[in-house]
Amino acid sequence: MQVGIDQIGFYTPNKYVDMVDLAHARNQDPNKFLIGIGQSKMSVADQTQDAVSMGINATMRYIDEIDREKVGLLVIGTESGVDQSKSASLFVKSALELAPEVRTFEIKEACFGMSAGIMIARDYVRLHPHHSAIVIGSDIARYGLNTGGEVTQGAGSVSMLIKAEPRILALKNGHSAYSADINDFWRPNDSAVALVNGKYSTEVYLDFFKRTFTNYQAQNDCQTADFAALIYHLPFVKMGFKANQLAIEKQEQETAERLANNFTASAQYSREIGNIYTASLYLSLLSLLENGNLAPEALVGLFSYGSGAMGEFYAGQVMEGYQNALDFDGDQEMIARRQKVSVSEYEQIFTQALELPQDNFELESDEETGYWYFAGTKDHVRQYKQK
Ligand code: COA
Repeated sequence: MQVGIDQIGFYTPNKYVDMVDLAHARNQDPNKFLIGIGQSKMSVADQTQDAVSMGINATMRYIDEIDREKVGLLVIGTESGVDQSKSASLFVKSALELAPEVRTFEIKEACFGMSAGIMIARDYVRLHPHHSAIVIGSDIARYGLNTGGEVTQGAGSVSMLIKAEPRILALKNGHSAYSADINDFWRPNDSAVALVNGKYSTEVYLDFFKRTFTNYQAQNDCQTADFAALIYHLPFVKMGFKANQLAIEKQEQETAERLANNFTASAQYSREIGNIYTASLYLSLLSLLENGNLAPEALVGLFSYGSGAMGEFYAGQVMEGYQNALDFDGDQEMIARRQKVSVSEYEQIFTQALELPQDNFELESDEETGYWYFAGTKDHVRQYKQK
């Protein structure tokens, strides 16, 4: 029996900032952001979009196509949690009208959270092949205005259905994990924005990639040339590009070109959306599947990294006809529908979104009809509504 990804839903908020505008506002050469960092736009979440509403909106993309009764597990990975106690997934479960019997919880380990959920879901479906699992990564990356990390922000969510006999990607057995207790990126309880040592983080990320990729190959009797594509957690495109350069440096031309071209395809959406923390690797996967060149049964290697730090490499095989299970036009529209905001509008939206609205004040959303949003708190309980 094969177990893997059968559906992918993606959502990003309806506003973006252009990196050229941001570079001008911050007295930087635009090429530093466009080439040096590798980002051209970043999505901006206003006060009405959070980890919960974005996770609902991503899953709404496919929920009517699946058998809700069969969903036995719902996991959300996020580092933009909305409550210190109650799982974001309970709000999501309610909006999606999943059965009360579903096992549901939230996972945290920085950007690794969604991968942890996928590994749990893979093993759960192996034991319960008649059930499926929904795994969501949903995040708003906030480093703060006028900070070094500002250019690596973004917002969005990716949701996946994991089930037996999947239509998109069969997850292979095995994985290679590596962890260390370090301080490269974290967000203290009293801070709405992350603290980061970005250059150190890049060093650790590259080190963990080398270790996990090498170990994976040794444990699974395979080599770099066997992979049609290697994809990465992409807090910003240049970071994954550096890892991919390490992977291809000693390869023959054909392998190096194939992995370089598929890396470019996998980074296309992140370049436009920005950093979406837990879901970034899975935005790379979606971008690869929709823009890359993959034959049936092509082997795809996935490198997940969560600061703090946890790295994991695992792999999947592309299913024949996987294109039919994707919504290419819908994803293009999701990205294209966004309205550009000026840097000063973005600064205002950013600052306002750091604060909770006054209790019992109802927020209104400027999203399109059908999308879910955070409507404020009522007697300190978060309210989610569908427009
Ligand atoms: N044209 C082209 N490239 C340019 C350039 C220009 N005019 N000016 C600078 N660059 C390049 C630099 O050479 C550098 O490339 P390199 O990384 O290949 O050496 C790159 O742009 C970035 O420049 P740098 O001076 O290092 O930028 P910075 O000090 O502003 O920091 C980050 C960049 C990414 C470290 C910072 O944005 C950050 O900390 N982001 C958060 C990262 C993070 O979240 N990490 C944890 C998540 S896993």
